[in-house]
Amino acid sequence: MGLIEQAAKRLEELKRAGIEVPVAEPAPAEAQARGAARGGSAAAAPSAGDGAGLFRSPAAASEAVAEAPARRSKLVEIDLQRLAANGYVTPTAPRSRLADEMRVIKRPLISNAQGKSAAPIDAANLVMVTSALPGEGKTFMAINLAISMAMELDTTVLLVDADVARPAIPERLGIDAGRGLLDLLTRKDIDVADVLLRTSIERLSVLPAGTPHSRATELLASEAMSRLVEEMASRYPDRILVFDAPPLISSTESRVLATHMGQIVLVVEADRTPQASVKQALATVEQCPVVMTVLNKTERSGSGSYYGYYGAYGQ
Ligand SMILES: Nc1ncnc2c1ncn2[C@@H]1O[C@H](COP(=O)(O)OP(=O)(O)OP(=O)(O)O)[C@@H](O)[C@H]1O
Ligand SMILES: [Mg+2]
Repeated sequence: MGLIEQAAKRLEELKRAGIEVPVAEPAPAEAQARGAARGGSAAAAPSAGDGAGLFRSPAAASEAVAEAPARRSKLVEIDLQRLAANGYVTPTAPRSRLADEMRVIKRPLISNAQGKSAAPIDAANLVMVTSALPGEGKTFMAINLAISMAMELDTTVLLVDADVARPAIPERLGIDAGRGLLDLLTRKDIDVADVLLRTSIERLSVLPAGTPHSRATELLASEAMSRLVEEMASRYPDRILVFDAPPLISSTESRVLATHMGQIVLVVEADRTPQASVKQALATVEQCPVVMTVLNKTERSGSGSYYGYYGAYGQ
């Protein structure tokens, strides 16, 4: 019997004997691996993990420990140099024009998510990045926003690849994805914690789109998806969920998803998206409490990143 099995068996025995075992998370070996992966010291305090034990009541904790070896979310390494070379914000290069622009965009979103808005916003920790048309920069924005948010010490982020028919996040981050959202929607035997990927970027986890499915778009608009989003919102109330969603015009699933969101970032590609399309897209999400438009790829003097004017509606 391996060490893990022995530990699990022992915990099971203790549980049967009515003894509560506190959750030690992450396990020391794993904490060390995480510290090393992040270039930090193994002694650094680990952030809250994504294991199934998270947010559980003490009564359920011993059960969670027994489950933990199987349930613990996988850790993936993100190559920060590659990410930076592809024009993304990284924690190792916190000062750049793009990083500054992301700071401006994320600030109100975080503030709302943390309940600091003038009036409370329902599901403010659910942030969807979308656009009127394809190719306007949603995935670029969602990744940058998620990383930039995770760079805040008190903000934990889950980046959800909700563009399930054409997922792009794993390739952009250079990670192997495997199971994800679609598997959660089609299988009862797996849990969010089983398919979440913890990343080597502190406080950033990714929920991939999952195993390709012929009815992916219908699943995204399904009742099961509504339930899953609600479950994730309440299970992870202290983290911000950033959804990379399909475009709003020409597909309905993004609009259905939008109905669950507290905040929406509408990416508009400068000098390309017709004003009528922007208006049409805005009309489809008008029920959302906060809709922020971000003008992407604006031509400005010099080179570098592109985010221009942004405006917030509804708050
Ligand atoms: N501000 C930006 N600076 C540099 N490159 C950008 C920027 N915005 C988008 N891009 C690039 O433009 C291309 C299209 O962007 P992206 O894939 O993010 O769009 P999308 O809206 O997610 O597209 P789709 O609708 O196909 O999912 C990508 O190669 C991306 O890296
Ligand atoms: Mg995309």
